[in-house]
This record gives sequence, C-alpha cells and structure tokens, in this order.
Amino acid sequence: MTLSLRLQKIAEYSGKCAVVADIGTDHALVPVYLIENGLFSHAYACDIGTLPLKRAEEYVKSRALTDKIDLILSNGLEKVPSDADVVIIAGMGGELIRDILQNDESHKAALFVLQPMTAADELREYLYLNGYSILDEDIVSEHSDTKLYSVMKVRKSGENREFSSLDILISPALQYKNSIEKTRYIEKLISTRKNIIQNLNNAKEINISYVEKLTNEIKELEGCL
Ligand SMILES: C[S@@+](CC[C@H](N)C(=O)[O-])C[C@H]1O[C@@H](n2cnc3c(N)ncnc32)[C@H](O)[C@@H]1O
Repeated sequence: MTLSLRLQKIAEYSGKCAVVADIGTDHALVPVYLIENGLFSHAYACDIGTLPLKRAEEYVKSRALTDKIDLILSNGLEKVPSDADVVIIAGMGGELIRDILQNDESHKAALFVLQPMTAADELREYLYLNGYSILDEDIVSEHSDTKLYSVMKVRKSGENREFSSLDILISPALQYKNSIEKTRYIEKLISTRKNIIQNLNNAKEINISYVEKLTNEIKELEGCL
C-alpha cells in the first residue's frame, strides 16, 4: 500500500513507537500503513463522523487489522485513551486543530503530527503561545496538484519562548530548509500579501497599519528565499 506524499510525510514524522492515535482518520489510511509497516503495535482510528468511521472500519477489516486498530467515534481527543504516544491531527483547518488541542487535557505528553489545510499561521501562533515547540516542519505537494501542505512535528515543552512575526508564517525549523516546495510556499505567502495590499490601495479608506504589517511580512519572507 502506498500513501500520497502528504500522508507519507505524516507517517515519517510519526516515527516508530507503541500506540498512535489518528484524529479525523476518515479511511484510516495512515493507521493501517503504520501498523502494516511495523512502526506501531496499536492504533486508535478516530473520527467525529459515523460515515468516515464506517469507511475506516471497512478498510481495517479488509486488511485483517481489527485486533490492532480500535475505531473510536470521538469529537477531537475527547474519547481517545491517554496512552497514545503519537497523536496525528491532519487534513483539517488550522483553527479546528487548535480547538482540538485546546479542549484536551490528557494527551499533553504525546508527540503531535499536525497538518493544517488552512490557517497554518494561526495554528503556529497558538502553539508558540501555549508552550508547544515545533520540532520540525516541512512543505509537501502532491504529484497531481499544485497545492502545498505544511506538516509539523510538535511537542508540548511547557516553555513559552519568544517568537517573531516571521516564525508565525514559517517556523524556525522550516526557515533553514531548502526545497522547491518551501520556496513555492513562501512565494505564495508573498503573492497573497501583495494582492491584499493592491486591493486595500484601491479601497476608499486605507488601513495604513495593516498595509505596513503586510509590507514588513513581505520583506521578511523575501529574506527567506
Ligand atoms: C478531510 S478528512 C482528513 C482525513 C485524513 N486525516 C487525511 O489527512 O487525509 C477530515 C476528517 O476529519 C473529521 N473531523 C472533522 N472534525 C473532527 C473533530 N472535531 N474530531 C474528529 N474528527 C473530525 C471529518 O469527519 C473527516 O473524516
């Protein structure tokens, strides 16, 4: 079984340990991959929706893994046992991932693999402000499309370290990496900001401080290219 490049990166960041929980598992592709490749001995495949969980159940059954993968109907981490060494929360908006982390008290020691589809900046800011460290981050794209996905490896260290406005846009771990995907990711952040500034300049009332903020971000991002 082969995973998409996005899911491959999620599997790579999950590493090798005893128990993995996949939140918003949908088809349970990642837990099945991690178990079949001997990377984890047990998995919790969790979803808030009965239909996705049914899909997961069918897939798990088809791979004869029902003794190794528990299917759990759960809103975020609410019903997930606390012995998960690694918690994956992928394929959702950054705000939803943030809310799931915020509402959880019993998985603080886990390694988190987070993959926001949107609002990665808001998620990074939440992590910095709440004592999480982004240990690693990478940008991946799929063969078939031009979309870029941020994947982060995160642990709660409890330290609230200082962070810059650039760290919110791309984590320090990513700033020192070189890849075509990272360059494309930064170029996209820059072009989005340039477009917003252009639209604001055409508006009747200009929010000068917002334009200044975006202009500074563009300079900082250009420095990372
Ligand atoms: C787009 S799929 C992502 C599937 C897979 N994780 C991936 O990255 O390809 C999003 C899944 O998250 C589930 N989901 C949405 N909100 C959730 C929540 N609060 N708790 C658990 N699962 C949730 C949805 O039901 C859906 O199956």
